Amino acid sequence: MCGIVAYIGPKNGVPVVLDGLRKLEYRGYDSAGIAVLAGEKIDIYRSVGKLIGLEEKIREERLRGTPVIGHTRWATHGRPTEANAHPHKYEGIVVVHNGIIENYLELRRELSDAGHEFASETDTEVISHLIVRELKSGADFSQAVSRSLLCVRGTYALAVLYEKEPEKMIVARQSSPLVMALGEKVGEYFVASDIPALLAWSKEVIFLDDGEMAVFDYNGMQVVGLSDGSPREKSVRRITWDPIMAEKSGYKHFMLKEIFEQPDAVSNTLLGRLREDRNGVDLSEIGFSEARWQSFKEIKIVACGTSWHAGLVAKYWLENLARIPAEVDIASEFRYRDPLVGPETLVIGISQSGETADTLAALQEARRRGASLLAICNVMESSIARLCDGVLYTHAGPEIGVASTKAFTTQLTALFLLTLEFAAIRQSLNEIQIARQVKALLHLPQAIEKVLERASKLELMARRYHQVSDYLYLARGLNFPIALEGALKLKEISYIHAEGYPAGEMKHGPIALIDEAMPVVVLAPPDRHLEKIVSNFQEVAARDGRLLLFSGPDLEVSAEIDRLDHFVVEKVGEELNPLLYVIPLQLLAYYTAVLKGTDVDQPRNLAKSVTVE
Ligand code: AGP
Repeated sequence: MCGIVAYIGPKNGVPVVLDGLRKLEYRGYDSAGIAVLAGEKIDIYRSVGKLIGLEEKIREERLRGTPVIGHTRWATHGRPTEANAHPHKYEGIVVVHNGIIENYLELRRELSDAGHEFASETDTEVISHLIVRELKSGADFSQAVSRSLLCVRGTYALAVLYEKEPEKMIVARQSSPLVMALGEKVGEYFVASDIPALLAWSKEVIFLDDGEMAVFDYNGMQVVGLSDGSPREKSVRRITWDPIMAEKSGYKHFMLKEIFEQPDAVSNTLLGRLREDRNGVDLSEIGFSEARWQSFKEIKIVACGTSWHAGLVAKYWLENLARIPAEVDIASEFRYRDPLVGPETLVIGISQSGETADTLAALQEARRRGASLLAICNVMESSIARLCDGVLYTHAGPEIGVASTKAFTTQLTALFLLTLEFAAIRQSLNEIQIARQVKALLHLPQAIEKVLERASKLELMARRYHQVSDYLYLARGLNFPIALEGALKLKEISYIHAEGYPAGEMKHGPIALIDEAMPVVVLAPPDRHLEKIVSNFQEVAARDGRLLLFSGPDLEVSAEIDRLDHFVVEKVGEELNPLLYVIPLQLLAYYTAVLKGTDVDQPRNLAKSVTVE
């Protein structure tokens, strides 16, 4: 959950790395730091808090130099203090690290017994001491790094500089993302935890694999295996994202921009996957044979947070439309519950970042038990995408705001396509029924656009309710996960406590919460549950609850409900309501957070990609 950026080449590396850190700040913002080779020495500059603090600190230094490495931190081991901020320097070795060294206490004890003194509480600092120990035993810089990392258990993406070999830079990766971009000139390389940090410089990238190390100097780069030092051939990939996609483009926050990008994001995720003929869907990119598709007798979905909510919606679709049993697990629970998984199970991992440690671990457990794995991911070549047997990418473009929005609606789009694929293979829907669903899907971007055009109505609602301390979100059926998602959006960016509940559960407890101070969001789309949900919101009104009702255009609401805000959503195919009804809830959460003055794009304690368990 930290971000690392590194540069070697003819440019002054300081502005390059600072710009990269700015693009990665969503990965963590407890502290920031930079190390610059200037002359014989490597100077390190660190600051607690956001990157702006570091920039203020070094503004007068007029720093110049290359290579340069930098880091923005989400604290795991050790409080967010300057001493715990990266880079960590010890006897000329300087390290920035994203990940967790699981055996760092054991290593720290071993090193302390040998006389090493530590300046921080972090696990990362152990790496710099290990490298120095290897150097002192006669290893050269590359050998010292590889031997040190063979002593380490855990996860890392790291960059290392050495004062005595100033023309070199070494990076290595184990289960934490690391991508390298080729500069225009020979000997110019950019390295980062995530693609947005590189887009301004190059679209030609190389993804390091787990257990690999890259050694850079001004003549080029060599990738070797950490275990045996054997050279590794790496292919250059071209990134389709362009730099502007990682900018705010005039919006006040990335989150608002990404909410408004959803019509395009959904369209882009449909592109090339719908066909006029046959079953209307073409997912051949996944690479599963007909026989393999037929072999799946059950589906298990593993994900976290918003992605888990997408999985909950998909369960309804897969069982109702494709008539295939589907279970959904929170990834951090799945791997410890001794899951019944086998060769006839397709386990789907849903993850925007493709780096969520809990989801990665759940998929690895499913692999061990013989299941086939499919990733629904937004980041090309991410760890989860690389682990799985097949990948169905969402084409949402980079999602910078910590609160997931366009990733969610594009995950649902991809999962609906997958449902139609299964429905065709299992002949649970005929061609006419599939074609009807495809038609509804194609209309969706336009329906989302219409909701976005009325964003000001949600801002008004937020004005009315942004000072409350609690919210309740109610829905039924396949919209119940949207109640969960709406509540998560609100709580993670506005810090207001919010709960999502199946509306039928109200009478089993939550109704005790209803009073005139409690806003209750009720989703009442025109579907099979409408009559029941109307009773639920009457129950809220009868107890003076403050009703925020989201419904179709035909719902008549009795006049005596005077504490009511009513937002009407266009009628679309019943199965697609979740993709539409989540939009006003995203906007309600966004405007509430803005009114509360919280940090919408980088909410407290959170990070965009949770790469620790
Ligand atoms: C959602 O708004 C949150 N940022 C969080 O719940 C997120 O969905 C979760 O951490 C999963 O991330 P992933 O999709 O990258 O795996």
